[in-house]
Amino acid sequence: MKKQLVFATNNAHKLEEIVAILGEEYQIISLKELGCTEDIPETADTLEGNALLKAQYVSEKYGVDCFADDTGLEVPALNNAPGVYSARYAGEAKNSQDNMLKVLRELEGKTDYSARFRTVITLLKDGQTHLFEGIVEGEIVKEKRGTSGFGYDPVFVPRGYTQTFAELGNDIKNTISHRAEAIKKLKHFLDNEK
Ligand code: IMP
Repeated sequence: MKKQLVFATNNAHKLEEIVAILGEEYQIISLKELGCTEDIPETADTLEGNALLKAQYVSEKYGVDCFADDTGLEVPALNNAPGVYSARYAGEAKNSQDNMLKVLRELEGKTDYSARFRTVITLLKDGQTHLFEGIVEGEIVKEKRGTSGFGYDPVFVPRGYTQTFAELGNDIKNTISHRAEAIKKLKHFLDNEK
């Protein structure tokens, strides 16, 4: 029988990515399938805090084991901003173009363009909390390139590559990304549970 687990998201891309990595053995249930339609508050000031808030909300309200994720772009020259505020860096409209332009504007005149994407997954299972982290290091480029992906992908080149995530495309991105790394750690944990 498949192992069932709730993923506290309604993001179809994330669900697809997680199902592809976790494989046949797991049945991942989305918030929609669970009947949870409300907006879960993400009011913490760290990725860890937000992932925990989401997982706790669902676990407490529905009495299920569950995991949640949160991701941010961290730019050392900007004191690791936008970080946990990545989605709304340029305002509540959550506009990716505006967010990228703001990062580029803030970096003007700086020499260090290094950056990383960091994903945190929090799993609440059998009354225990487990954290899994995935990081991809790279750098910000001064002009947007490429059309695939989302968010900051057009301005981020992962280390060891010359193309941005948006140029590399989802097949390559999903094998090396921050989220993929965190999901693989989650899978390793689940696979090795008694
Ligand atoms: P979330 O926590 O996964 O919803 O991510 C928050 C924000 O981080 C998104 O709205 C994007 O702006 C950015 N982000 C997260 N993952 C990625 C990615 O893989 N590529 C580019 N931007 C991302």
